[in-house]
Amino acid sequence: MEKILVIGAAGQIGSELVIALRQKYGNQNVFATDIKQAPIDVMESGPFEILDVMDNNRLIHFVIRHRITQIYHLAAVLSGNAEKIPLQAWDINMKSLMNILDLAKEVPEVKRIFWPSSIAIFGPSTPRENTPQYTITEPNTVYGISKLAGERWIEYYHNRYGVDVRSIRYPGLISYKTEAGGGTTDYAVEIFYEAIRKGKYECFLSEETSLPMMFMEDAIQATIDLMDTDINDLSLKSGYNVAGISFNPKELAEEIKKHIPDFEISYKPDFRQAIAESWPASIDDSIAKKDWGLNYKYDIKGLTQVMLDGIRNK
Ligand code: SER
Repeated sequence: MEKILVIGAAGQIGSELVIALRQKYGNQNVFATDIKQAPIDVMESGPFEILDVMDNNRLIHFVIRHRITQIYHLAAVLSGNAEKIPLQAWDINMKSLMNILDLAKEVPEVKRIFWPSSIAIFGPSTPRENTPQYTITEPNTVYGISKLAGERWIEYYHNRYGVDVRSIRYPGLISYKTEAGGGTTDYAVEIFYEAIRKGKYECFLSEETSLPMMFMEDAIQATIDLMDTDINDLSLKSGYNVAGISFNPKELAEEIKKHIPDFEISYKPDFRQAIAESWPASIDDSIAKKDWGLNYKYDIKGLTQVMLDGIRNK
């Protein structure tokens, strides 16, 4: 029987992934942890504990005590926030991953790990359209550098010690349950809240800045599908390109206007504009489709409808 540890259960991905994993594996078999309180359904539908992934001793004890077989390590400082505290962000993002990798090497019961990578591993010298899996990767953000280094380390641990770590280069993730914190793609979440609260939004990216995005339900399904795939079918031991759907702030605003005709958007790009411009506008995810059957349910129309309904219901 699987015993699953989720680190970062209070975050944007974690708060939804925990619920999906509990439906699949049973509530009591999915241990949600974070350094802060998580949404009420995460804390009440199964085990929840405050746990700091940087505290290696407690982490190892936790894993042994609960006979953990799979770890989803989602805790990270995102791109915008990382630029404000570069060395601390590097330290948190890298040390936490190394703690987990080394733990998996030492504890044979831990059979499988998930760790998110990002479109941030690409940089200004990467081809921006239909960015291939293998291409120039020269990230110029702390977050991107840490994700690229992380990808190299997970492959290293796989080849050298046989540790099974799987990873997706997530595009920007859009969801209404838990707001994103400190990322460059956050505009695509904030815009929905502001459209409902105020009827207008001042966007920190310019109108033509296209980025790949994905609705959370699709991201969770992709994560579970990747983790369920026979390892022999996986041709990559690092992060898989996942495209989602590409659009820019103007196109998203047009879609929102179909529901809220008076919605107004204005543009005041800040330091995140340069980050966004260094990332791909669209992604080639043919390897993920071939290896583990990646697919999507939501386009821009579908996600706009669900986001507006979801926020209104909150
Ligand atoms: N969505 C993340 C960010 O903007 C990228 O992985 O930081």
